[in-house]
Amino acid sequence: MEIEDHVALISGGASGLGEATARTIAADGGRVVILDRDEAKGQALAAELGAAARFCRADVTDEAGIRAAVKDALDHFGALHFGICCAGIGAAKRVVGRDGAMPLAEFTRIIDVNLVGTFNTLRLAAEAMMQNEPNADGERGVIVTTASIAAFDGQIGQVAYSASKAAIAGMTLPIARDLAARGIRAVCIAPGLFETPLLGGLSEEAKASLSAQVPFPPRLGQPPEYAAMVKYILNSPMLNGETIRLDGALRMSPS
Ligand SMILES: NC(=O)c1ccc[n+]([C@@H]2O[C@H](COP(=O)([O-])OP(=O)(O)OC[C@H]3O[C@@H](n4cnc5c(N)ncnc54)[C@H](O)[C@@H]3O)[C@@H](O)[C@H]2O)c1
Repeated sequence: MEIEDHVALISGGASGLGEATARTIAADGGRVVILDRDEAKGQALAAELGAAARFCRADVTDEAGIRAAVKDALDHFGALHFGICCAGIGAAKRVVGRDGAMPLAEFTRIIDVNLVGTFNTLRLAAEAMMQNEPNADGERGVIVTTASIAAFDGQIGQVAYSASKAAIAGMTLPIARDLAARGIRAVCIAPGLFETPLLGGLSEEAKASLSAQVPFPPRLGQPPEYAAMVKYILNSPMLNGETIRLDGALRMSPS
């Protein structure tokens, strides 16, 4: 589908990969509803992007909050065509650490935000897309989710994060199949290492060491490179039901 004059809801749109996607879609003549729990960053980005953007504060795990953001897109921009799910969190904890078994609540929290939050967002976005008139290719909308290469090469301490991301990758095909008759595609991106606030706590030395592990190009990915992949997906009707690694051929080691 074309981006120009089409409307995207972007969860986690206030920062990092989601922010870069919001900028790209707005620059290409699209409209964006930035959904995030970070009010200050979300409002600032929406103000910067001007009439093409709106901010909705919501937690992705909250049904009412996502419904309100979808309604905001319909009320202010007239339709919703793209549901781009970037909101996610990480936490490092082993199955059994020095303090004993990983608290179940910590495992559940990551699954809730990353997996349940992604599903909550995409299901309500897809419902709104069904109202769209199909375009010449029969398309009504596109869903893009964000897994991680930790879905496949989870490191020590990534048990909850990897489980959540593997589930996001795993649900891509059934989502695409469920929505095929409605002309809605679903594609998942599994990023490698991207330079976003998620990695913000790392020293320059740690970043250099991570970069050196990436075969080519031997550096961290930049958020606009993720946004370029989203754009390619939105524009490519044959791309459906697939998880795409975007990682410079990185295969992560155990630690
Ligand atoms: N940066 C990387 O190297 C990398 C690699 C693989 C996967 N990812 C995934 O990409 C996605 C985006 O990550 P990023 O690097 O841009 O991180 P980021 O921290 O810069 O952005 C994430 C955004 O999501 C928002 N968010 C978090 N929990 C939320 C919730 N419950 N409800 C609403 N908003 C919430 C945050 O406020 C933040 O604005 C995440 O799902 C992350 O797991 C990132």
